[in-house]
Amino acid sequence: MKKPLTALLCLAVLSVPAIAGNAFVDAEDSIEYRQAAFQLIRHNVGDIAAMVKGEINYDAARVNKRATALATLTTLPWEAFSVPGADKGGNAKAAIWQNLADFTSRSEKLIADAATLKVAADSNDQAEVRKAFGNFARNCKACHDQYKE
Ligand code: HEC
Repeated sequence: MKKPLTALLCLAVLSVPAIAGNAFVDAEDSIEYRQAAFQLIRHNVGDIAAMVKGEINYDAARVNKRATALATLTTLPWEAFSVPGADKGGNAKAAIWQNLADFTSRSEKLIADAATLKVAADSNDQAEVRKAFGNFARNCKACHDQYKE
């Protein structure tokens, strides 16, 4: 009977969602999630930036790997802003919830520009990648200036 018990305990640990419709136990959990997502975005952006700036050799396969990751990663943080209480904590400004339509449209633009970056990476055209990356990266500071402490 040892095995079923272990399986049950694992399930108890893994089945955390307590808030209907999402993956978070509470607001703090959702803040941790969105910050973790942003950190992954930062690492992938930083690597492409280093190549685009010529700090390291340009490697098309590596750019493609980063762009592929970013196309998904940029879709992740946003649901973690709609959990009750998620406005208290982290470095998110209250302005987000006062201008939710604007914040959401900025997040959608980031996702769309990441998709364009992925298309550019697939084309293997370095000039296209540079252009798409420039457009993509502009979204970060623009949103942070308004909505991040
Ligand atoms: C639509 C708005 C928006 C866009 C676009 C955006 N961010 Fe953010 N970012 C935020 C907010 C809000 C926070 C604060 C989150 C928190 O503390 O809960 C944040 C936090 C971060 C953090 C800190 C995470 C931590 O550990 O506390 C990093 C790193 C980051 N963003 C990187 C980026 C990069 C890189 C881009 C562009 C590719 C980007 N962000 C685009 C809104 C945005």
